[in-house]
Amino acid sequence: METIISRDILQAKKLLDQGELVAIPTETVYGLAGNALDENAVIKIFSTKKRPSFDPLIVHISSFDDVTKWVKEVPDIYRELSGQFCPGPLTFIFNKKDIIPDLVTSGLQTIAIRIPNHPLTLELLDSLEYPLAAPSANLFGRTSPTSPSHVYSQLSGMIPMILDGGSCQWGIESTIVSFENNTLNILRQGSTTMEELSHFLSGKVPVKIQPSSGVPGQMKMHYAPSIPLYFGDVETYLNRFKSQRIGLITFTRTFSLPGVTNYVLSPGGNLTEAARNLFKAIHELEKAPVELIIAEEFPDEFLGKAINDRLKRASVNY
Ligand code: TXA
Ligand code: MG
Repeated sequence: METIISRDILQAKKLLDQGELVAIPTETVYGLAGNALDENAVIKIFSTKKRPSFDPLIVHISSFDDVTKWVKEVPDIYRELSGQFCPGPLTFIFNKKDIIPDLVTSGLQTIAIRIPNHPLTLELLDSLEYPLAAPSANLFGRTSPTSPSHVYSQLSGMIPMILDGGSCQWGIESTIVSFENNTLNILRQGSTTMEELSHFLSGKVPVKIQPSSGVPGQMKMHYAPSIPLYFGDVETYLNRFKSQRIGLITFTRTFSLPGVTNYVLSPGGNLTEAARNLFKAIHELEKAPVELIIAEEFPDEFLGKAINDRLKRASVNY
């Protein structure tokens, strides 16, 4: 199958209406989208990504007004948060209605829904009669794509189309929240920070980061590049691997050493810029002539928390 890269929304709609998959741009990462109400399209998503069926998908819609078509009840706190953060990188967990196939949610009675903030994808969603199930458009366990070329290098020949929306604005997946026992639980840290959520809720509702092991689909090993990644003290690892060709990911510091290819994610120390460049650096280092990647730990605040979470998972085998 030939994979076209194009900005043609009508073509994307046509393919999706036929039950095909299309990679779609969002403000976080590219998604591998299919009709969420069509079991065959959903099966195709899992098989194309080689994703285990126990890892549930996120469903994408264009407006919060529509959400009651798919879910049983909408907590007031979600309405308030959506007014502030949607469209945007915040995913909510609801109790689902039966119209959503169990395959989408891996048999769970809950469903993850978000409104992506990308003009092409919002226009596409508006033109469809169904919501789009879309996990990140990478092979299972690998690094999420933040540009059409990242998608192409993992999925070319397996899907008919990549809707070209340029590079992703945030570069890290959405933050996933659930609301239980009057607490907003962060199930996955992402592009909406804990600090922003706490500030907006100003103590009215406590915000807690959940340890990821309890969450379906939140595998310890995830986001892994195809070469080893070591995460932590840069000097120690540089010394340990000094005879090898190294890809190095740092926040602000530049290392000019022989055999070291250094990606500095934000020379000016901006965590938003660093997050945007993180997966791009990993994708490019995977293709570079290096044997391993060393990444330093980022400040444990704002987007630094989500960056560290991704790097920790990417390095879990090393
Ligand atoms: O930014 C994003 O959220 C991107 C773009 C494409 O929208 N999507 C994304 O999807 O990151 P994916 O499949 O890579 O991550 C989906 C994760 C699952 O692995 C699981 O952790 C969580 O969402 N999830 C989905 N449904 C859930 C549910 N009912 N309860 C708890 N967690 C759920
Ligand atoms: Mg993913």
